[in-house]
Amino acid sequence: MELKKAIWTRKTTNHAFLPKPLSEQHIREIIEAANRAPSHFNSQPWDFILVQSETKRKELGKIAGESMRELMERGEFFERYRKYFRFSKEEISKTRSGIHVDKIPFFLKPFVPFLFGEFGKSVFNFLGVPKILGQDAEKIVSTSPLLLGFMLNKTEYKVGTKSAIYSLISMGAALQNMWLTATSLGIGLQFVSTPMEIPEQWEKVKKLLNVPNTHELMAVYRLGYVDPSLERNTIDWVSDERRNFEDLVSYEEYSPKRV
Ligand SMILES: Cc1cc2nc3c(=O)[nH]c(=O)nc-3n(C[C@H](O)[C@H](O)[C@H](O)COP(=O)(O)O)c2cc1C
Repeated sequence: MELKKAIWTRKTTNHAFLPKPLSEQHIREIIEAANRAPSHFNSQPWDFILVQSETKRKELGKIAGESMRELMERGEFFERYRKYFRFSKEEISKTRSGIHVDKIPFFLKPFVPFLFGEFGKSVFNFLGVPKILGQDAEKIVSTSPLLLGFMLNKTEYKVGTKSAIYSLISMGAALQNMWLTATSLGIGLQFVSTPMEIPEQWEKVKKLLNVPNTHELMAVYRLGYVDPSLERNTIDWVSDERRNFEDLVSYEEYSPKRV
């Protein structure tokens, strides 16, 4: 696939993947592409854990599902990230950032304006929204053919030093290489971040993956072959708007343009 096409078609895959293992060749291509990324002094500060066993994927799926349900029940997630949520095409066309929750069961739609508040939280809990989201999360994580632990070697990451920032930049570059390569191979990717939002759940993930003290588990990704005919989740979002060129750049010196 042409690079430009991979950049413009790469996106988060929110829904299930085809129930087909990733080929060894494709896994190798993805990891080796990550390792071609730039890093400070070519330090290659990353290490990867490939999880393909059904038992372990199920265990991780359970943690992801529980974390999602817990976060939604407590209402913390929406509160913490409320500024990124959009509920209509008009809203996201205006801000050109954030995520557009475009798939919601009809019986929930009237309650969306109350989502960010005590009333909305009680209604959503009463209607079982956290449970629906938790079940969806568990299903898509546990059935993903590959779960990938992405670790940063802490010897390259000393908080408060320049090398810490350099490592993070390197990790971002490695992720993008993986994601673009996956896209070119017909493979989708999604962050599994809900367990990261709950320290006890993240500890469980680290234990399951045997993450050593020398490393920071930066993220877990789910990967698999995509197929446009696969069903979307019960509640789902898209995120394809981006800010305009004119809104992004200043010439010669910074000048704020947004009102
Ligand atoms: C650091 C980071 C954390 C993210 N966490 C999540 C996540 O928890 N769940 C998820 O579905 N997507 C997650 N994403 C994906 C973004 O939501 C997504 O990239 C963005 O909305 C743009 O959508 P796109 O990837 O489809 O272009 C994360 C992305 C980054 C870079």
